[in-house]
Amino acid sequence: MVSAPFESQSVAQAGEVAVIGAGYVGLTSAVCLAHLGHRVVCADVDAYKVAELAAGRPTHHEPGIDGLLRAGLDAGNLRFVLGAAEAVADADVVLLCLPTPMGADGRPDLTALTGVAAAIGPQLRPGAVVVDKSTVPVGTTRVVAECLGRGDVAVVANPEFLREGQAVHDFLHPDRVVIGGEDRDATARVAALYESLGCPVLVTDAVSAEITKYAANAFLVTKLSFANSVAAVCEALGGDAHDVLRGVGYDHRVGHAHLRPGPGWGGSCFPKDVQALLHLAHDAGEPFHLLQAVLDANESHFDRVAERVLALAGDVEGGPVVAAWGLTFKADTDDLRESPALAVLRRVVAGGGRVRVYDPVTTPERLAAFDPDLAVGVVADAYEACTGADVLVVLTEWQEFASVDLTRVASLLRRPHVYDTRGVLDRSELARLGLVARIPESS
Ligand code: UDX
Repeated sequence: MVSAPFESQSVAQAGEVAVIGAGYVGLTSAVCLAHLGHRVVCADVDAYKVAELAAGRPTHHEPGIDGLLRAGLDAGNLRFVLGAAEAVADADVVLLCLPTPMGADGRPDLTALTGVAAAIGPQLRPGAVVVDKSTVPVGTTRVVAECLGRGDVAVVANPEFLREGQAVHDFLHPDRVVIGGEDRDATARVAALYESLGCPVLVTDAVSAEITKYAANAFLVTKLSFANSVAAVCEALGGDAHDVLRGVGYDHRVGHAHLRPGPGWGGSCFPKDVQALLHLAHDAGEPFHLLQAVLDANESHFDRVAERVLALAGDVEGGPVVAAWGLTFKADTDDLRESPALAVLRRVVAGGGRVRVYDPVTTPERLAAFDPDLAVGVVADAYEACTGADVLVVLTEWQEFASVDLTRVASLLRRPHVYDTRGVLDRSELARLGLVARIPESS
């Protein structure tokens, strides 16, 4: 059900909110809840992180975090402590924002979540509510309750829907809040945290809340792979994928959001959540064939983008020089995890391409630390990447690429081939300069 406005505790009377984990979900939640007027304590196991945050210095790049962090510290309703057990003693509500990485078998690894639950169990105030915000398999709310070992503490599922790079905006302007639990008082107390946001609040059972998160991401990747498949057909038939998808997206039943083509989808959430839902569905005896096809389509899309890059570059003795713009999994983040750009470039290198890449936030050292085996050169300038290259491929939609001097790019490239997988460059300017991604007849 979508609930009516709540009889909530006033913010002034409410006890503290403890946020366990200061990653992009936890830190965003902590600073935003403090911004909404709650008293917040945020805990992490990383002493360096805690010290930096307590001093007002964000430990990862996320637009809007720094201002809210400093405001919360200055106002005195936001503090940071080392260790979960330290954080919960005065908390009415405890938000668990912990990593649930993909384990070796493709299923989420719940070690961090269960470890923290066991540690905080004895420290919790009577009647506290523990909230799971991490993306977790169905039934985890029950597992957390068992680890807590506290009959007087309710456990509630409250999945996050935050995009990296827009996490603060998404927290403060949510499309919806989903809360799952059997204890109505507990779900109402969690809903009260978000009351001032004025968004729809869906209160349901824990299992449904847990599935909602996976189903939302499954739908989004389906939409993305659909867009990429349409782009492939457009490239083969000579259509303009961006115009086609705009034409489709104007239908309000479809919508424009998450319908832009690209080199494939990735990031720290989508691949992991897709695998997790595939396993859940399989284990439940209802294999999710559509989602498996979407996952396969994404892998094939990496292959075909790489093949196209190599075909555009043509046969060059010693291997073609490939200029690439963008390495992070999307713009406005420094996150390289499961980046589609890396997936494509690995294939290009394996196919003999000599890659020179520019990314606004990735240094050679950072890439080497992330993927020591990837043999690509990282340069500090977009034009430098293009000098003498046989093709330029755009892999991440950084806005700064939209304002590059394409005439200069044309003069630097050895061959006039630009493959803009994201559609960030000015297409009429590309056409005017003859920088069209057309595979030569001979290839
Ligand atoms: C995603 C979900 O959007 C969020 O609701 C969930 O809670 C966490 O996972 P995020 O991982 O930050 O958020 O990435 P998102 O902005 O959704 O992008 C995911 C991938 O899709 C990126 O590789 C991105 O470049 C790609 N993408 C996105 C496209 O190729 N086209 C689009 O139109 C949108």
